[in-house]
Amino acid sequence: MSLATSLRAPLPVLGHDVQVPLANGEKVGYAALDYAASSPALQRVWDDVAAYAPYYGSVHRGAGYLSQLSTDLFEQSRRTVAEFLDLREGDQVVFTRATTDSLNLLAGAVPAGTQVFAFETEHHASLLPWAHAGLPVTYLRAPRSHAEAVAAFDEALTGAPEGPKLLCVTGASNVTGELWPVAELTRTAHRHGARVVLDAAQLAPHHRVSVRELDVDWIAFSGHKLYAPFGAGVLAGRADWLDAAEPYLAGGGATRTVAREADGSVAVQWHTGPARHEAGSPNVIGVYAIASACRALTEAGFDALEARERALVARLKDGLAEIPEVRVLNLFGADSDRVGVLSFVVRGWNSSHFSAALSAEYGIGVRDGLFCAHPLVRTLLGDEEAAPSECGAPEPSLPGERSLNAIRVSFGAGTPDEHVDRFLTAVRELVTDGAAWTYRNEGGRCVADTRRAG
Ligand SMILES: Cc1ncc(COP(=O)(O)O)c(C=O)c1O
Repeated sequence: MSLATSLRAPLPVLGHDVQVPLANGEKVGYAALDYAASSPALQRVWDDVAAYAPYYGSVHRGAGYLSQLSTDLFEQSRRTVAEFLDLREGDQVVFTRATTDSLNLLAGAVPAGTQVFAFETEHHASLLPWAHAGLPVTYLRAPRSHAEAVAAFDEALTGAPEGPKLLCVTGASNVTGELWPVAELTRTAHRHGARVVLDAAQLAPHHRVSVRELDVDWIAFSGHKLYAPFGAGVLAGRADWLDAAEPYLAGGGATRTVAREADGSVAVQWHTGPARHEAGSPNVIGVYAIASACRALTEAGFDALEARERALVARLKDGLAEIPEVRVLNLFGADSDRVGVLSFVVRGWNSSHFSAALSAEYGIGVRDGLFCAHPLVRTLLGDEEAAPSECGAPEPSLPGERSLNAIRVSFGAGTPDEHVDRFLTAVRELVTDGAAWTYRNEGGRCVADTRRAG
């Protein structure tokens, strides 16, 4: 295969040949354009998991051959993830359920009173765990450029009291796909003695990430967004705060010794290292799947993956720019660098109705709503209230608030060009001709009615 061909071919993923029914009774190949929520499994990940499945056994707790093999595989997977992330000497990889779990773990592990900084543009998983864990949080207003983000953070740190400080920042927005100035924010943080945790849920599937180069203190991501949908995630980075913290969960695997005391109490010595925060039987399949995805992406080469994705993003943006009714949502401007994630609204359309029509009339799966980033989407939409449709308007999340929603299209290493082209054709046709079907509200979701429109 020539280099040019290999650059252009999507990676094989499960579901690429799934046929879905349209409202008119025909069937069409499903265009999965909701990678930002959960990406399809890489075929390679699926094959690796299937090859391992007969050898499945308990991890860290069995004398049998398969338990030992599974334990080796689990620990080898940790090393693979460490290499994938280009961790520093002494950094730890803790396996979790997903990014939300990783960030909640960290929120419970930072020193008491740590002053946390987060831009209001964060996904709720990066925005909310800190106050939930009882930490003081400074929420920074949505910046409109990288320079503004760095300056706002610098200013906030300048006025901050002594003591431990932490910035939680996303690498790529789950709403706009835009990249954040992680290295600059980290330099600023470190200058002020603050630490940084990078939410790489939307970055790691699309970009090479080097913890060493970015110099962030921790990183979190989810397997199910990295083509490995088996319920595991990662928190990786500095060991000191994690080793000093109370274990995330109390239970087997996290303990070195547990002894009954003379007074009837139970004395526990907890492990240090990743085991401290991995109590309970580990999800070896999920972890092995992540390691498999890391290997597959590394072998495919991020230079090639990023080049292909950049070309698809350009095609998408150019296509949407030709449709005046479409407004693409950007925080840092239309030309800002982004991964394969883009949100938009269509003048005169309710986003829920539009997304339902993309599914029912074209077999295209996107997402509509506020994408678990309510403050950011509200900022980006400004005064743009959702147009009512036959499905009604979406429920405002707070009484008295405006009803808002947007449409998000997202893709990645497994997306064929045809999916983006079909999406653009569908948007053009819906805007020009309107929906061919009627839609109704079913349990709060807009779905195609069985009656034909008109
Ligand atoms: C930027 C970002 N952070 C965190 C999360 C939470 O990830 P998970 O639901 O896998 O815990 C998401 C999920 O959409 C996300 O996009």
